[in-house]
Amino acid sequence: MSERTRNLPRRSCHAVPGSNERFLEKAQGIPADMVFLDLEDSVAPLEKEAARGKVVKAIREGDWGDKVVCVRINAWDTEWTVFDVLEVVGGEGERLDEVMLPKVESAAQVVALDLLLTQVEKKAGLPVGHVGIEAQIETTRGLINVEEICAASPRLETIIFGPADFAASMEMPVLTGGVQIPEYPGDHFHYVFSKILMAGRANGLQVIDGPFLKIRELDAFRDYCQRTKTLGFDGKWSLHPDQVEVLNEVFSPTQEQFDRAWDILDAYEKATTEGDRRGAVMFGDEMIDEASRKMAIKFVSRGERAGFTRSAG
Ligand code: GLV
Ligand code: MG
Repeated sequence: MSERTRNLPRRSCHAVPGSNERFLEKAQGIPADMVFLDLEDSVAPLEKEAARGKVVKAIREGDWGDKVVCVRINAWDTEWTVFDVLEVVGGEGERLDEVMLPKVESAAQVVALDLLLTQVEKKAGLPVGHVGIEAQIETTRGLINVEEICAASPRLETIIFGPADFAASMEMPVLTGGVQIPEYPGDHFHYVFSKILMAGRANGLQVIDGPFLKIRELDAFRDYCQRTKTLGFDGKWSLHPDQVEVLNEVFSPTQEQFDRAWDILDAYEKATTEGDRRGAVMFGDEMIDEASRKMAIKFVSRGERAGFTRSAG
């Protein structure tokens, strides 16, 4: 299902308000791995219906290169969800890689979207399964059910954390979502990040962190990105082109890490297949084994996604 994009990089996932034709045009030239044209919270209620046509036109007529192209539809508790899918997937489903479902609260909501997509794909003459799903976890109910949500459909490609709505759903006493709270000794979202990451990985999904709303504070942004990058997330949202550059750097391994990962794979392969075929062997001053191979593979695949090739030597 949705084979083109399942393993494409999503280090930077750029948000574009679907009602703004200027931004829809500009987004095509931004070096983000993925763009999502939004019909949800960045579009005013009175502009929702007009935005659908703008999004369809932008997907059809724009040059999106090999970016992952997604549309964020409205959540199931609105009057817009079905009509968003009919107009957008029915109108320009071919270049559309996936739809993002916000405020997912249960597996049933993902299944309902899957069934709807199947009908719309058939009617539009698209292969069934052409359009993938990205699911946003941004309510307390969604977090409680995240494990079953991540297993709900083969169309799922990513699970995403939405810190702004989540802070509101938790009734946290904050006015800005997705930033560090200095008064809290530690990371107030550590449990949330880890829970979503585990549920996503257990189901083979990419795992994405949401927005950082202080878009002018690039140093704080870079610092904050390290948290989910270090835990193992694949990427994070950008709300401004300046954030894209930071994300592409932070969520890529360094050349040194990439080369070292390859060296580990080579040393392990040699140790396990040649001579007295050992499963654990010294690599420099550390012991490596099968678990080291698994860790190294992730660096290699992330590095290849970032366009690295192995240094000579
Ligand atoms: C994103 O949608 C968020 O609510 O943080
Ligand atoms: Mg949200």
